[in-house]
Amino acid sequence: MAKRPPVSGVRPAKRPIGPSGVRSAKRPIGGQVSKTAAREADPGGQKRSPGTAKRLFADLTPKRSGKRLFADLTPKPPGAGGDGPTVAELIPEKPRLGTVRDAAKDCRACDLYKRGTQTVFGEGPRKAEVMLVGEQPGDAEDLAGHPFVGPAGKLLDRALDEAGIDRKLVYVTNVVKHFKWEPRGKRRIHAKPNGSEIAACRPWLETEIALVKPRILVCLGATAAQALLGKSFKVTKQRGTFVPSKLAPRVTATVHPSSILRAPDEESRHDEMRRFVADLERVAAALSQE
Ligand code: URA
Repeated sequence: MAKRPPVSGVRPAKRPIGPSGVRSAKRPIGGQVSKTAAREADPGGQKRSPGTAKRLFADLTPKRSGKRLFADLTPKPPGAGGDGPTVAELIPEKPRLGTVRDAAKDCRACDLYKRGTQTVFGEGPRKAEVMLVGEQPGDAEDLAGHPFVGPAGKLLDRALDEAGIDRKLVYVTNVVKHFKWEPRGKRRIHAKPNGSEIAACRPWLETEIALVKPRILVCLGATAAQALLGKSFKVTKQRGTFVPSKLAPRVTATVHPSSILRAPDEESRHDEMRRFVADLERVAAALSQE
């Protein structure tokens, strides 16, 4: 397995931070998270053993060799529409992030490509130790072609900063790569992707996970959590906990940052932001564990 760079993605957090007025939780000077705090954050955390990512990749790979990675596992999901090859067919035989990203540009595997301006693929370092997975690009992301650059992305940046995680060291992506929207007057209003669209798009995300091999995978919101952790996963009840999963050595979920923007008043927005930062601090603590 390729050697990881020494950067952990965790750096001392600044305090206080952010126009939200939310202060980051107290942490030891220098921003290092103690091992005790890290253990408390994730008592059941597994160590990453060499070959874990390889095994994950193998799990996702059909047993025969030399053929496309996902072809056997992902027949075209019924109801997704689309008039192009399946994602499985688009993924190069020897995938690399760059070639996979290029292949995704032409994705017509479900009907969402007709509504979106462009495919919004994940971004971040190839060896990122943390991967954040959201639902789908929003209006701003659809226009810019980059994930989490709109209002929810700005809030996410602030929360990461407060938690002491450098966004530049994080790989950020979505379960669905095209913006699904409904017109309301002149505005394009977010519409939730359905199961077929999520299934059609899924091999892109599986490939990103297999190539980046994050140590920690964080689902942002119920769509990502249920797509990756199962329909019975309840973000409201299980947020911030690490759950067993083959996807990465440590897998957790928290709310979607847009839910904080939708909070009914300033006070609940502050509370929700504080809880979101606390969940991300658990990620930072787990990251700083050996
Ligand atoms: N919401 C998401 O889930 N992803 C984005 O990239 C932007 C908003």
